[in-house]
Amino acid sequence: MPKRGCFPFPNNNPPQTSSLINDPLVVGREVDVAANELANLLIFEKVEEKCRVFAITGMKGIGKTTLAQKIFYHHEIENYFNVKAWACVTQTYSEIELLKLIIRAAKGSHGNTKKKIELQNILSNCFTSGQRVFLVLEDVRRADVWNDLLRVPLHHANISVRVLVTTRYEDVANDMEVAYTHQVKELSIESSWDMLCRFLDKEKELAYGSLKELGVKILERCRGHPHAIKSMARVLKKIFTWEEWQNVLLDDTWSISSLLESDP
Ligand SMILES: Nc1ncnc2c1ncn2[C@@H]1O[C@H](COP(=O)(O)OP(=O)(O)OP(=O)(O)O)[C@@H](O)[C@H]1O
Ligand SMILES: [Mg+2]
Repeated sequence: MPKRGCFPFPNNNPPQTSSLINDPLVVGREVDVAANELANLLIFEKVEEKCRVFAITGMKGIGKTTLAQKIFYHHEIENYFNVKAWACVTQTYSEIELLKLIIRAAKGSHGNTKKKIELQNILSNCFTSGQRVFLVLEDVRRADVWNDLLRVPLHHANISVRVLVTTRYEDVANDMEVAYTHQVKELSIESSWDMLCRFLDKEKELAYGSLKELGVKILERCRGHPHAIKSMARVLKKIFTWEEWQNVLLDDTWSISSLLESDP
């Protein structure tokens, strides 16, 4: 039985994300619908415009990165774009490394250059004319990564660029003058239960079935936040009786915010 007050498991380091996704664990029709819609917009909206920025917003742990990963590997995105790059630009990113990453994605060469202005010049010239470029900027905290660093060099290249930004901050999306913002919504209770079950012990599936009623009540306290559900799954995974799940439900020492502070 989990001890009362065993939440949270604090972790203050923002992770460096990659484009890789553990697809079998992703649940919810919500994610598929949003991925299809955004892929459609990225490809078909105002094709004549050279640069367009789209944003995925929402609070911590709501599923922004997961959705962006789905879009990055969406079959239509794979087919349409010639160059794709995924860059995590959380608080402490390096401008130089970011410029180099995009140059390499375009099969360009930056040699040993370490000067920002030179790398921006290389970036402007490393694409083949008419190429379609898809760039994900993940976990953006400040608009200047686009406004001051990438916008001008990419505008000067003779290409079509679609940028997908994920950010917790609406202001950042507004400052980047995004063409469209998708706000990630909470998972439904049905999807929340589905998600919880995927993170529980497969061999104990029958036992969990009889705990669904309590599980749903616990999930109502998680309010459809995938990060919170995942943290809760780590607790519920270790307990199998009605009384133990009831104790978790009645435990008032945990809250959605304490679950969001723990490792997902
Ligand atoms: N639909 C889903 N199905 C299963 N797991 C999910 C789903 N959405 C998110 N998750 C999981 O929940 C956790 C939080 O999701 P994610 O990292 O996408 O959130 P985020 O909004 O990017 O958070 P942050 O603001 O901290 O970057 C991750 O471990 C992710 O794998
Ligand atoms: Mg994220």
